[in-house]
Amino acid sequence: MNKSNRVILALDSDNFKKINSILDKIKNHLYAVKIGYEFFLNFGLDGYKKIKKKRIKIFLDLKLHDIPNTVKNGIEAISKLRAEFTTIHISGGDEMQKLAISKKGNTKILGVSILTSLDVDQIKKYYSKNNIQKLVKNFVKNAHKNNLDGVICSPKEIQIIRKLVNDKFIIITPGIRPINYKKKDDQQRTLTPKKAIELGANFIVIGRPILLSKDPLKEIRKINLEIEQSKN
Ligand code: C5P
Repeated sequence: MNKSNRVILALDSDNFKKINSILDKIKNHLYAVKIGYEFFLNFGLDGYKKIKKKRIKIFLDLKLHDIPNTVKNGIEAISKLRAEFTTIHISGGDEMQKLAISKKGNTKILGVSILTSLDVDQIKKYYSKNNIQKLVKNFVKNAHKNNLDGVICSPKEIQIIRKLVNDKFIIITPGIRPINYKKKDDQQRTLTPKKAIELGANFIVIGRPILLSKDPLKEIRKINLEIEQSKN
């Protein structure tokens, strides 16, 4: 794998013109772009197709969670859009995961385990469990068994997950901040790109450090250089 193209840029913006101009400058330095609710609900399929036309891989992050038949049909529609990755909630259960896989075509299905925004109190309240790590491990083991292609997880979980799954299982992590990144935002326990790759992530999702940078090309080059120096 080309070490330098491990970054997935999160297109979290309601400014299409800005996204367009950034991508024209840096698309060759990325592995893919991540389209989530903000982009998709602002710009719809039309916006999706405009990005696709740039010949860049798309991670369509819609985190599907519904009854198995509904998710199956949703995944079938996503696979027709030729997205590289998409997401479903592992908590939708075995049948939902299996039906999703049956319609994935060439799109890789990633599982969302426990939302990293939930703290111990919320986990206790909604899952009746005290141990988040144990819960995450259980979710990932089952996702692996059900043949999901990988998971999206917190940087803190990379190491424990890598030990549970085979090498083909894809681990993608957000919560990444480049070394020497000074701006403070809502991301708390972050890792650097180099560290995340060394711990076993295949790809890293980065948004604001690139999107809000005065010079996105300089920023992605710096990040890729950092990744090239990793041991993996
Ligand atoms: O701007 P930033 O680099 O924080 O963007 C990270 C992206 O990853 C956002 O699209 C965010 O929604 C997503 N994400 C996250 N933390 C999670 C799961 C997804 O930051 N636990």
